[in-house]
Amino acid sequence: MPDNLDQKAREILRANDKGGFTIPTAGLYPYQWNWDSVLVALGFATFDEARACAEIETLFEAQWEDGLVPHIVFRRNDPDYFPGPDVWQAGESMPTSGITQPPVAATVVHELWSRSDDSAIKVRMLALFPKLLAWHRWFHRYRVPDGVGAAVITHPWESGRDNSPEWDHPASAVDVSGVTPYERRDLQHADAAMRPTKLDYDRYIAMVEFGRNTGWDHEAIATRGPFRVADVGMTMILLRASRDLMRLAEELGDTEAMAELQGYVNQLEQGADYLWDDSIQAYCSRDVITGRHSGYITSGSFLFAYAGVGSATQRAAMSRHWDRISASCRYMCPSHDPDDVLFDADRYWRGPVWLVVNYMLARGFSESGLDDWARRITEDSRELIREHGFYEAFNPQAGTGTGGEEFSWTAAMWLAWLRPAAEKARELAS
Ligand code: GLC
Repeated sequence: MPDNLDQKAREILRANDKGGFTIPTAGLYPYQWNWDSVLVALGFATFDEARACAEIETLFEAQWEDGLVPHIVFRRNDPDYFPGPDVWQAGESMPTSGITQPPVAATVVHELWSRSDDSAIKVRMLALFPKLLAWHRWFHRYRVPDGVGAAVITHPWESGRDNSPEWDHPASAVDVSGVTPYERRDLQHADAAMRPTKLDYDRYIAMVEFGRNTGWDHEAIATRGPFRVADVGMTMILLRASRDLMRLAEELGDTEAMAELQGYVNQLEQGADYLWDDSIQAYCSRDVITGRHSGYITSGSFLFAYAGVGSATQRAAMSRHWDRISASCRYMCPSHDPDDVLFDADRYWRGPVWLVVNYMLARGFSESGLDDWARRITEDSRELIREHGFYEAFNPQAGTGTGGEEFSWTAAMWLAWLRPAAEKARELAS
C-alpha cells in the first residue's frame, strides 16, 4: 500500500497547481517562483512527466530578451502579496520581478531528460537548451566579474536564502531613508518571529526601488548597485548547473557550446576559491564592494560537494565544521551555524532546515563518497516530513514546522527523494 504521505504530497502539488505552473503555497506566495517551480518539477515527474515539463516551460515563457529568468512571474495580480507587479514594474512578455534566483534549472532539466524513457519528454527537455544557455550567458555577462569568478547577487532575494546573516553587513550600507511607505502582507500569513524583520524589509524594498529607477538596467545594477555580494549558494548551484548543461550540449553534439560552458566552469571554479575564507576555513559569501568575507558558515557552504569543488585540505576543513554542527543539531542541515550568536532556530534562513537545500547537499555528498553525511541528511529530512508535515522549513532542534504549510517544494522533495519508493528507484539505478 502506498504511504499516505505520497498521496498527501501529490494533493499538495495538485492544489497549488494553477494551470501549468505551481505556486509555492497559497496566501504567503501566490505567484510562480523560479527555483520553486524547477524543483517542484522533480515531484511532478514522479507521476506526470508532461506536467513536470510544463512547469519549467511556463517559467521560461517569462524569460527576458537578454536571458534573465526572473525570480517571480506575476501571471495575475494578487493583492495578498507585497511587493507585487506594480512595485517591480518589470518583465517583457509578462509582468515579472526584476531579479533572478538560483539557476538550478539546467541540473533538473538534465535529470528529467536522462531519467525519462519517453522520447517526447526528452525532446521537450532538450528544446530548453538554448534558453538555459542564454540564462547562463546572462550570469556571465552581468554577474560573474573578472577577478571574482563567483556569482554575484544584487538583492538578498536572488540568493533564495532571503534573510541569511550573510547579507546583514553588506545590506547595512543600503540607504533606506527614501523608501516609499509600504504595508507588508507576509505577516498576515506567517508568524512575525519566523519572518525577516522590518529593517530587512526596508532594505529589500530600497534595493527593488534602486533597480526600478535604473529601468532594470542590469549593467547599471551590477556596477553601481548598493548591494553586490558573491553568493556561495548561487555560485555552487551555477557551477553544478553549468556542468549539467555541458552534458546536454554534448548530447546535442554542440561542441561550441561545450567549449563555452567549459570556460564558465573554469571561471566558477576560481570563484569558489575567491569564496574560501582562510580565517574560518570554510566557503562563505563575500561582499564584492568591500572584499569582506561574511565569516559565516551556512547550509550553502556545504554545497561544495554538489558543485564538485574543494582541495583535500579544504574538504577536510569543511568536514570539521560538519562534525561540529551535526553533533549539536538534532536535524541537519541548519541554514545557519548553530554556534553563531545570530543563529535563530525559527527565523527563516537564520537557522531552520530547508529540504530543497538538503536535497542538493545529499546529492553532492553521495556523489563525493560522503555516504554517512548523505544518509544522515536523508534520514533527518524524511523524519521531519513524517513527524511534522510539509512545512516551508523546520526548526533544526525541535523539528517543528516553520513558515508556510502545504508547501509545494517540500511535497516535491518527498516524492522525488525521500519516500521509500524514490530511494528504492535510486538504489536500482546505481
Ligand atoms: C522565500 C524563500 C525563497 C523561495 C520563496 C518562495 O522567499 O526564501 O527561497 O523561493 O520564498 O517559496
